[in-house]
Parts: sequence; C-alpha cells; structure tokens
Amino acid sequence: CPALPVLQTSMLSVERTTTPREKQDKSKLVFGQTFSDHMLHLDWDSEGGWQAPRILPYGDLRISPAASSLHYGLQCYEGMKAYRDADGGVRLFRPDLNMIRLNRSMDRLCFPQVDEASMIELISKLVVEDADWIPEGDGYSLYIRPTAISTHPYLGLAAPEKVKIYVVLSPVGPYYKEGFKPVKLYADTEQRRAWPGGMGFAKAGGNYAPTVKPGLKAKKEHGCAQILWLFGEEDYVQEVSAMNIFFLIKKEDGEGVELVTPPLDAGDILEGITRRSVLELAREWRELEGGVPLEVSERPLAMGEVVKASREGRLLEVFGTGTAAVISPVEAIKYRGMEIEVPSGTSIGPLAKRFWGALTDIQYGRVEHPWSVRI
Ligand code: COI
Repeated sequence: CPALPVLQTSMLSVERTTTPREKQDKSKLVFGQTFSDHMLHLDWDSEGGWQAPRILPYGDLRISPAASSLHYGLQCYEGMKAYRDADGGVRLFRPDLNMIRLNRSMDRLCFPQVDEASMIELISKLVVEDADWIPEGDGYSLYIRPTAISTHPYLGLAAPEKVKIYVVLSPVGPYYKEGFKPVKLYADTEQRRAWPGGMGFAKAGGNYAPTVKPGLKAKKEHGCAQILWLFGEEDYVQEVSAMNIFFLIKKEDGEGVELVTPPLDAGDILEGITRRSVLELAREWRELEGGVPLEVSERPLAMGEVVKASREGRLLEVFGTGTAAVISPVEAIKYRGMEIEVPSGTSIGPLAKRFWGALTDIQYGRVEHPWSVRI
C-alpha cells in the first residue's frame, strides 16, 4: 500500500459560495439531510501524491462511472462533530482519534495514509468557514463526515491509484426518529454484521450497507429501531449498526455492578470514540453515584448471560454509544421470541444520564478538558 504522503495545508484554496443556503429551524432537522454551504476536497494519485486541498461550495461530485468505489465498495468514512460552546467558540471532540481511525480504515482498503494533524487543520478550516451552520444546544451540533473514495477508473479489483477525500458538514439533532428517547433493539440470530478476521473494525461503507435490509425488517416486523448484532454459537453481543453497546449488570455476588461492552481484539467491532470515552470516564469514576463499586469490563458477553441477569433482576441499564447517537438508552431487546425489558424503561437510566452529562459538559466546553479542542 502507498507510503505516507504530505498534505499541503498551506496550499489550501477557498472558493466561497455565491448562493448561501437558508438555515432550517433546528427543531425540524432530520439527521443527515441538511448540508452546509461548503465542502473540502483532497485528491490523491499514485504518481503525484496529494494535490493542493480545496474548499469549494457544497455540490455534486463528478467521477468516472468506472471508479472502483462504485463497483467494489472501495470507500470508508468518519463521523465527528463540531459543537458551539457557551462563549460562542467552536469545539471538536477528540478529532485525533477520528483521524487515527480514518487511517486504519484507509489502510485496510489500500488507500494512502493521511497526516493526521494536517487533516485536523483542514477540517477545522472548513468548520470555521461554515461555523454559522452549527446549531446551538445540548444534543445539537454540526456533524462532520470525512469520506474517502477510490476515484480510480478501473474495473480490475486492485489497490486504487486515485483517491478522493471529501468532507461535508450537516447540522444535526438526535440521530433516531424517536428523538433522545430510549429505543428498542432486535437481536438478530440469523444474519451477521462481522466476524473475527473480517473488517468489522473499519468504518467502511461495506460494513453498513448490509445492515439496512435487516434493519428495515426489524422495524417493520418487530417495531425495533436497530439491530443488535450477535456472533458465535453463544450469541455473543457485538454492536448495533450505528453504535456500540453497553450493559450495566449487578454482580452475582452482590458486590457492586459491572459495566460490560464487547472487546475489540477480534477486530469485529468498530472502535467507537464515544465507546472509548465512556470506558475511560467509568474507569476514572470507579463507582456509581451513591458509592456502589463500578467494575468496567471489555469482555465477551453472551445473550444467555443478559437473559439470566434480566430474569434475576440484575440487568440495570443498556445503552448505545456513538458520535451520531451520543448516549442512546435502550428500552428493551427482542431476542429469540423474548422481550428483555430494561428496568429504566422509557426513561434514561442514571448511569447513561451521568455519561450524557459528563460527555456533553466536555463537548460543549462547560468544563475544560483535553478531549475538547477549541478551533
Ligand atoms: C456515527 O455515529 O458517526 C456513524 O458514523 C454512524 C452512522 C451510521 C450514522
């Protein structure tokens, strides 16, 4: 795969739109349907490396119909957000981790690597350019979607010789139609999202497209917002299509509670930045509010254990984490004809609420924290 090239941030050119779009009332925002006025373009080819970056008015792309991204899914993306803080400043949340993950996904697809600091600088310039598109308020932000595609016009299955990274911005509120309310999940025992040795860890479109049809079925036939993906004979929990998943379980010996999420070592789960942040916060807290000891585990979790904990009244909370979903409480999981009800029901559980509060305090700059980067 191609070696590390240099992005020429100093050669950035900016062409501003002459037809700025009207901004929508934030209460009417539907996730991912509205886009800001500008976008960033970065083009690479195997002979010349990276060309000078450009910020241009938001608009359609023109690529060859033979581009291998359109045939073989040679494509990956990132999800980040820009937040408006109380002083009117603009902040990103752990953008370094997004860029590391982008490089990991790009490497898996034989795309060139990017210089992470330069990418953050270019994305920051784009966000500042369209900063008046950032909706204010908890749960509202400007979603940033860096996307890398092969533009190589070649029908052979090969490493791309031409790649484009583009970044678009979208003002967003809640990811789910339900708003910030708890969702129901359908634990699918027939179809698989990813497997050990596969590429579930990569943020490649190829991991997401196959989830759409099962997701529609889960909604239509089971009234569930998303699929909870499982793997293996024991129905080990993996993740939800658009978020990682956490379970809070009272320990069998009664000595405190355990916050469990599946581990990353099999490479079948996306390493979410919100997932990592929740784990780091929980490891720092070490106890629930009220002093109950909190153990934090990245370990395999079979659905049988979830059912058992639920039957014994030890399943306390379930919630998803993701950039788009933030902290998304789960009301119930439908699994093999059962409905596992989460006691927090249609409200957010106390631990999920605490994570929501701690993360949004950092993201919106209400507390100073190294994870929040003012741009
Ligand atoms: C994100 O949370 O940023 C994602 O990329 C998930 C996507 C399905 C919206």
